Amino acid sequence: MKQIKSNNLFSSALVKFAVCFLLLCISYRLLSSSFVRFPLEVSDHEAAAAAAVEPPQFVDDLLLNEGCDLFNGDWIPDSDGPFYSNSSCRTIEAPQNCMRNGRPDLGYLYWRWKPKDCILPKLDAKRFLEMMKDKSLAFVGDSIMRNHVQSLLCVLSQVEEAVDIYHDEPYKNRRWSFPSHNFTVFVVWAPFLTKASTFENDDGVSSGIIQLHIDEPDTIWTDQYEDFDHVVIGGGQWFLKYAIYYENNTILGCHGCHGSNITEVGFEHAYRKALNSTLKFVSEAKQKPYILFRTMTPDHFENGEWDSGGYCNRTEPFKAGEVETRDVDEMMRNVELEEFEWAVSRNGAGSLKLLDTTMLSLLRPDGHPGVYRQFQPYQGKDKDAKIQNDCLHWCLPGPIDSWNDLIMEMLLRNQR
Ligand SMILES: *[C@@H]1O[C@H](CO)[C@@H](O)[C@H](O)[C@H]1NC(C)=O
Ligand SMILES: *[C@@H]1O[C@H](CO)[C@@H](O)[C@H](O)[C@H]1NC(C)=O
Ligand SMILES: *[C@@H]1O[C@H](CO)[C@@H](O)[C@H](O)[C@H]1NC(C)=O
Ligand SMILES: *[C@@H]1O[C@H](CO)[C@@H](O)[C@H](O)[C@H]1NC(C)=O
Ligand SMILES: *[C@@H]1O[C@H](CO)[C@@H](O)[C@H](O)[C@H]1NC(C)=O
Ligand SMILES: *[C@@H]1O[C@H](CO)[C@@H](O)[C@H](O)[C@H]1NC(C)=O
Repeated sequence: MKQIKSNNLFSSALVKFAVCFLLLCISYRLLSSSFVRFPLEVSDHEAAAAAAVEPPQFVDDLLLNEGCDLFNGDWIPDSDGPFYSNSSCRTIEAPQNCMRNGRPDLGYLYWRWKPKDCILPKLDAKRFLEMMKDKSLAFVGDSIMRNHVQSLLCVLSQVEEAVDIYHDEPYKNRRWSFPSHNFTVFVVWAPFLTKASTFENDDGVSSGIIQLHIDEPDTIWTDQYEDFDHVVIGGGQWFLKYAIYYENNTILGCHGCHGSNITEVGFEHAYRKALNSTLKFVSEAKQKPYILFRTMTPDHFENGEWDSGGYCNRTEPFKAGEVETRDVDEMMRNVELEEFEWAVSRNGAGSLKLLDTTMLSLLRPDGHPGVYRQFQPYQGKDKDAKIQNDCLHWCLPGPIDSWNDLIMEMLLRNQR
């Protein structure tokens, strides 16, 4: 396995190929008056390989990715594999470090996201850090955001290692600096985005029902908002939990508060209102960062849920169309899209963009730690032992690395 991409990729064959490829693009451009889509005359695989050799900057413009929907596509084989490994990136958190924990198959590392009508170059760490010079990027949300940030730190570690400059005690709120680029990364723990009191210990065991104020954005992120130049923000699975909902400091109803006399209202309204209040804050704030509103991440527990023996031991992606979204995922996503559209119509599309990772994530049941969320799970146990699976977070390296490729492409589009 190639662990770190290095200059040996610039083999003469690939350079020749890249030049031919460039000429092909230029001639196509001269011949075509409406060059909106990238012409895939060469096979997807060759095109992907050509992009992977970091073509000169002007090729970007020739590829004209602009009109292409980055989120509609398929996973294609990628012999290059990831930019980092469990040994080259020192900051992978243990539950995501599938390789070290003993996951035996590695096939899940050799896929890349291929939008239908264009190619998605992999994140160019050097260029990314240059773009982010003197800037900040904040990830606001739940543990999927933390998973995402870990991936970014690993990808960027090829060029510069992040320095930990702040963390709270449970390491849920953190800040890193890339000193030679004066670039700061935040991760902010706000699983509901709005004000909430939760009563869970580190193992997710609850000693009281969540009290959620769906109309008050959580000050943990709003108080820091003026320090953010770029923000990735989104909701998700925490809204499925049982909670009592408050609006205007008054109980509105609850989800799953059996036995009390509070009215069950389901969580759809709560999700809608929490996103609505979040996006309202964002559109009214004086600070105008570039915002990527990330859609929800589906899980892949099969034959059970996380707490009832569900597992995920697939070793290959699904193909587009091979899997259906579940009703709850569909419902949450529709709420997200409606609230996003509302915010855009109010705000102007300007600096608010959709990071629509739901579908591409749904196609990767193979990318989760499963039982390899713990070190050598079968050590001293028999092969059929019942072991808790994680089919929600992502192995690192793993499919979530592609989310950073998407962010890079979106930032580049925003600059052009
Ligand atoms: C990385 O994972 C391999 C197994 O895939 C293991 O042998 C090695 O010890 C791990 N290295 C580190 C630094 O965790
Ligand atoms: C680092 O960036 C911040 C803005 O994020 C700026 O205020 C500060 O002057 C920069 N520091 C240096 C040493 O350039
Ligand atoms: C919120 O509650 C206060 C009283 O606590 C009330 O005066 C106010 O009208 C309420 N606002 C809305 C929008 O319901
Ligand atoms: C049920 O609701 C009423 C008012 O709506 C309240 O007075 C009463 O204390 C509640 N009972 C319980 C068990 O919470
Ligand atoms: C996945 O696990 C199930 C249940 O333990 C087993 O029946 C199945 O063969 C496994 N599949 C693979 C690909 O390992
Ligand atoms: C969001 O909330 C506002 C009130 O603050 C309301 O006018 C608007 O219709 C809501 N948008 C959506 C899409 O629910």
